[in-house]
Amino acid sequence: MVHGLVTSPLRPLVAVTGGAGFIGSHTVDLLVASGCRVVVLDDFSTGKRANLARWADRERFGFGGSEPSVEVLTVDISHGLFSALAPITAQYGRVERIVHLAAQVSVIHSIANPMTDERINYGGTLQVLEYARASAVRKVVMASSAAVYGDVSEFPVDEQAVCHPVSPYGMHKLASEHALHYYSQVHHVPTTALRFFNVYGPRQDPSSPYSGVISIFADRANAGRDLTIFGDGEQTRDFVYVGDVVRAVVGAVLTDGADRALMNIGTGSEITVKELAQTIVELTGGKSTIRHAEARAGEILRSVARVERAERLLGWKSQIGLRDGLAQTLRG
Ligand code: NAD
Ligand code: UD1
Repeated sequence: MVHGLVTSPLRPLVAVTGGAGFIGSHTVDLLVASGCRVVVLDDFSTGKRANLARWADRERFGFGGSEPSVEVLTVDISHGLFSALAPITAQYGRVERIVHLAAQVSVIHSIANPMTDERINYGGTLQVLEYARASAVRKVVMASSAAVYGDVSEFPVDEQAVCHPVSPYGMHKLASEHALHYYSQVHHVPTTALRFFNVYGPRQDPSSPYSGVISIFADRANAGRDLTIFGDGEQTRDFVYVGDVVRAVVGAVLTDGADRALMNIGTGSEITVKELAQTIVELTGGKSTIRHAEARAGEILRSVARVERAERLLGWKSQIGLRDGLAQTLRG
């Protein structure tokens, strides 16, 4: 017996895989604010209950009335979604829409452990799509990545560029995009793939060497510790604030349009990792020293998005500039 989700056909029931993670928990917040009921599926490998703390007293206990609520299921999606979701759908009706974010997220980790990404990232996507097909889900939105492009030579990079991923992570994200296309075309499951560029903001976990660079630099600079740049620091990234990203995710999952679409979610601006480090040191009062270590193998050297397609298809564009986003991130 599950508790907690208000039974209401007027409020879409949205499943969020990876909903306890960085982008996932911000997505849950915006979905609830948009009037949805949310069921999170997460194995807590990198996600945290603390990220959903604001919904904790509402989880598992009915609070009736018109309050929205969140149900959290501990599940490894690579084993399938059917048995985990069965008690929820028996009580509250079908899952109408799915945001699929659960993944192993580190490019560098995937190079050392390519089979993990095959099982979780590609296999997990197939499990989500099989559930969607069998349950007549109205929309599946998946987090793809700028890493699908890999070795491209024209910038800003366009969605029509031929992809040559240079990591297992990028390969399995690209394979997952193909799976979305196949399920849409053959099984009529409406799907949208969003190619996130480098997402940053509060709740990004800095604790692993594989963590996102801004979370690591912000954490270390706030403590006055050294920052390490891999390589000469001339590599660029397009950093997009998490609050902007989740507006695109929620917009894409709640619309019945943009089927079989894939689009970049970035700002259209790039910055070198060296300039990024200098900016963060400056914003934190200049206490940290910047050091260099050997460049990481398998990394892309340049990354910046062409952004017009998301604006055309979803009416979305980023709003938060990097300095403002960094200031919010540094405040935590
Ligand atoms: P995150 O690590 O905070 O979130 C991933 C979540 O998935 C975590 O909560 C984790 O516990 C969960 N998870 C992992 N394996 C699982 C499994 N087998 N079953 C169930 N849950 C599982 O990372 P994030 O940055 O929030 O990434 C979210 C999504 O966005 C990922 O698909 C990632 O590849 C994609 N993405 C992120 C970025 C970025 O810059 N952060 C950029 C491009 C794409
Ligand atoms: C990131 C995401 C990945 C996403 C991709 C989209 C994470 C962990 N990775 O990969 O999920 O699909 O963006 O573009 O969120 N760096 C340093 N010092 C550090 C850490 C990193 O110099 O301490 C450098 C790296 O060498 C790299 C850059 O910063 O050049 C960005 O690294 P990272 O944050 O790990 O992201 P990506 O590999 O771009």
